[in-house]
Amino acid sequence: MNSLTTQASHPGLPPGPPAHLWGLNHLRSMKADYLGFVSDLQQAHPDIAHVQVLNEHITHVFNPDWVREILVDQAAHLIRWERATEVFSIAMGQSVLVTEGAQWQRQRRMLQPGFTPKRVAGYADLMVSAAQYALDALTAQGAGQSVNMDELMTDMTLDVILKALFGAHRVANARPVSEAIQTLSHSGVSELFKLFSWPLWMPLPAVRRVRHAKQSLDRIIQQHIQAQQSNAHDDGQDLLTMLRLARDPEHPDQGLSAQELHDQTMVMFQAGHETTATAMTWWSGLIARHPEVAERIHAEVDTVLQGQAPTPSTLQQLPWLQASLKEAMRLYPPAAVLFTRRACKPITAGPWTVPQGHLIAFTPYVIQRDARWFESPDQFKPERFLPGAPEIPRGTWMPFGTGPRVCIGQHFAMMEMGLIAAMLLQRYKLQWPAGDAWPAGDLGVTLRPATPIRLHLQPRGPL
Ligand code: HEM
Repeated sequence: MNSLTTQASHPGLPPGPPAHLWGLNHLRSMKADYLGFVSDLQQAHPDIAHVQVLNEHITHVFNPDWVREILVDQAAHLIRWERATEVFSIAMGQSVLVTEGAQWQRQRRMLQPGFTPKRVAGYADLMVSAAQYALDALTAQGAGQSVNMDELMTDMTLDVILKALFGAHRVANARPVSEAIQTLSHSGVSELFKLFSWPLWMPLPAVRRVRHAKQSLDRIIQQHIQAQQSNAHDDGQDLLTMLRLARDPEHPDQGLSAQELHDQTMVMFQAGHETTATAMTWWSGLIARHPEVAERIHAEVDTVLQGQAPTPSTLQQLPWLQASLKEAMRLYPPAAVLFTRRACKPITAGPWTVPQGHLIAFTPYVIQRDARWFESPDQFKPERFLPGAPEIPRGTWMPFGTGPRVCIGQHFAMMEMGLIAAMLLQRYKLQWPAGDAWPAGDLGVTLRPATPIRLHLQPRGPL
């Protein structure tokens, strides 16, 4: 019997595993292997489960209809778990990722126009030139190299987000920026399991590292904001210009305050870079492990693009490429766990009611590997997402979340990933090194490979 099997320990609440020592047994398992813990929980309780840890009641919802019922229909009665927003606000200030209520609504209204599919298509040239730059540098290093894909994808996506944010103003050396983002991201996760965070002025080595990382990002953002403000031209296509000129549609005389502008730029920096790099790293590994899928994509990329750089419209003609990206994010969603929510009112989940004050957890990594919706759920099968394949039930694929707080950058990310993937496969065959084992996942702010994915990049001849 699974140790997490049904026990109706709390009358009226969904079943769940018994808590020993006030749930410290669960806390230990969650800290050791969070995704393993939640996967076991879902095996024992396929739709919903209740877990108690210390004084918190946490309901895990796996049924996709109930997930939507909560995150879409009852979003107004939820806030994000206070400890998570407290931790994330250290790095991201009072940005759209962490604010709630009227403040969040106002910020989201103002930012949304910068992320519509049409607006995002305007960033395609910047994305292509960033990918071109990185791939040219790789080609210059010579044929048949072994490449750390995480590093390559991190460099490329950082360049993309820097160009999209600041336009022509390049950051001379992106490596310290990337390291600062990683420092903040790692500290964020370890802080989550602590009861409180030290203030940033504390003279402790770990705190000092975070403070320096934050200060170095603050400086870069401030430099760019000031550079733009002293520039008379207001017609830039970059995100920072969009943020500077954004007005609240309900109060057209109001823009973002100086602090808000800074914080929103910071969040785009962080949320818009590590997630995409992680998705592309897993994708490249999966393509290398599945040459039969790679062949299909090579064929369609060659036929449709004829050696030209991809565009937003030619990307739409590459169904295998698009399907492979979706399938990679099904198996390895970068945001494997959504922000846990707190119920501000009783919340309905199918036949159950989650009482006010309880926490509700959503885990795309587990929901997206449910054999009820995905046959052979642990296998990489992009054909599930091809046009004409049997329809995938709503709410079972949710790497960008769902409801009003769905990822604001989802079109941006899908286009960026499509462009980079197409350009990479135009130039190279991705080969998995013989004898290398497939890496396990390592859950931080994103789900990264626990050991680096290194691939052999074999140049392809001209068309
Ligand atoms: C593959 C890439 C990406 C993935 C998988 C991803 C995933 C997510 C998810 C799951 C959420 C919702 C979290 C929740 O509901 O708890 C989210 C929110 C958010 N994402 Fe993304 N994201 C990606 C790329 C981007 C990019 C490129 C940007 C910006 C340029 C971005 C900016 C944001 C922001 C600002 C939010 C907060 C939205 C709000 O709360 O209103 N993301 N993302």
